[in-house]
Amino acid sequence: MKYLILILLSLGSIAQSKLQRSKKAQVDFLNLHFFENGRGMTISPNISKYLSFFRVPHSDGNKIPENKKSLYKRVLQDRYGLNVLEDQVAGLFNIKYKGMDVGVLGCVACHGGKAAGRFYSGLGNKTIDVYKVGVDAKIIQGAWGALRRDPEFKKIHKVAMNFSKVISDKSISNLTRGLIPDSVIKTYFFKDAGLSYKGKISRAQVKVPHLWGLKEKRKTGIFWGAEFDGTNIGWEFGAELFASDSEEHLRAVLPKLKRSVENIVYNLESPKYPFDINESLAKQGKVLFDNKCSKCHGIHNRGLDGYPMYHQPKFIKSSIVKTDDDRLQDYFEYKALVESSSISDILPMNQRKEVGYVAPNLWGIWARFPYLHNGSVPSLYDLMKEPSKRPKFFNMFDAGEEYRFDKNKVGLTLEKKNSSKFKKNFKKAKQGNRNIYFVEREGHSNKGHFYKFMSSYTDQDILSIIEYLKTL
Ligand code: HEC
Ligand code: HEC
Repeated sequence: MKYLILILLSLGSIAQSKLQRSKKAQVDFLNLHFFENGRGMTISPNISKYLSFFRVPHSDGNKIPENKKSLYKRVLQDRYGLNVLEDQVAGLFNIKYKGMDVGVLGCVACHGGKAAGRFYSGLGNKTIDVYKVGVDAKIIQGAWGALRRDPEFKKIHKVAMNFSKVISDKSISNLTRGLIPDSVIKTYFFKDAGLSYKGKISRAQVKVPHLWGLKEKRKTGIFWGAEFDGTNIGWEFGAELFASDSEEHLRAVLPKLKRSVENIVYNLESPKYPFDINESLAKQGKVLFDNKCSKCHGIHNRGLDGYPMYHQPKFIKSSIVKTDDDRLQDYFEYKALVESSSISDILPMNQRKEVGYVAPNLWGIWARFPYLHNGSVPSLYDLMKEPSKRPKFFNMFDAGEEYRFDKNKVGLTLEKKNSSKFKKNFKKAKQGNRNIYFVEREGHSNKGHFYKFMSSYTDQDILSIIEYLKTL
């Protein structure tokens, strides 16, 4: 009995320290950036100090009243999709450097997101629109830097201009907010080889992946398609490499990146479902899940401390999962470019003969909507329906706010079919509105991930699986 109590106490303290580590990781990741020697994900110097003029007033508590949206929130959150928190904008920094104020982007600008009104470091940003950022930045920075002669200013300004030019290039940019075009990272290697990327690459738009469980995920490969060898830390730096446009920068910050991944990212835990769960229904769902879904997604167990035990995810060929393959286009040409580049030593590729997607661990899946690598399915409910029955368009505006969260289907709220709002949004979808996800756009298809066994599911089966997934 005495030993049992001792064991329970020590398990309790392990769980406690894990909780503290994950809380600390949340904060540390929020404050992480890789600016050094004037290099990094920068914007043109001295613009960032004016951003603070628009600061959100929060005299009446943490929440910004809907009817008093400040200019700050309207521009940074509604227009660009950054997450405006109580006292900071997630992933936007103002750093003093050689007498200048340099605006720097951190990882959480993309790798921090909201679900049901709660912000989590390590969850993908659902609303960011890098194309819009690029278009505005090109105009504002262009005017801002036009007459400046100071060489230190010009150095940073030039990199920032190149960054905004590429992300605002209409031929390779994202078509909907919440999606990031992988194409922009590819442009780095074309430039490195002295080639033009025009007409050679697809947009390859993806939602930003969750980062918990990365230690196991890396073993299969980096990114949704696991094409990139995860034994080396370099690929986790894709965004930074492209934005800084500098191999030297990548090499300089690699040791810090490695430390940050090991001490911060590995300690990020998946967020717990914040509402009630029907435990007996979830139990029924677990049986169905373990019976079929686990063949690809694995069994999800918790350790004695109550925390998820992540497992190495499986790679599934595209011909089996059959989801949108725009992201997988031109892969082998790209691979050859990377392998002949000057940084191939720190950016190794996997050597699979076929392309496909990882069947990810589903911890914290309730928060990761819209689903699939291209975010084409608005809820878990719809993901278990055949593709022709899934919604063809849905609104991504305020996607992470609580009023947009559907607890029954787990995912985004939709307009009532044939209501006037529904018709209006459908019209907007066809017109190319960036807030509306429309599955007929390039790379936005909601096909695939539907198997025979799913067609025999009753609504009750689906609801029970959803209830189980809430427990992860
Ligand atoms: C502009 C948005 C953006 C920024 C900024 C950004 N990332 Fe990412 N990151 C992405 C996207 C999009 C992917 C997925 C690409 C894909 O899978 O095709 C990704 C993938 C990753 C992955 C691989 C995850 C997996 O499941 O394989 C890691 C790790 C990662 N990023 C770490 C970082 C770190 C560390 C930083 C800061 C230095 C950072 N990212 C900055 C958008 C961003
Ligand atoms: C044949 C293998 C396979 C089976 C069976 C399978 N999945 Fe998947 N699943 C995948 C792959 C691969 C992906 C990633 C596809 C993509 O992103 O394009 C995926 C993605 C998902 C996602 C989205 C993850 C995210 O981050 O957006 C969810 C949720 C999911 N599966 C749930 C299920 C459930 C529930 C079942 C059983 C009813 C199931 N899957 C059965 C292979 C499978």
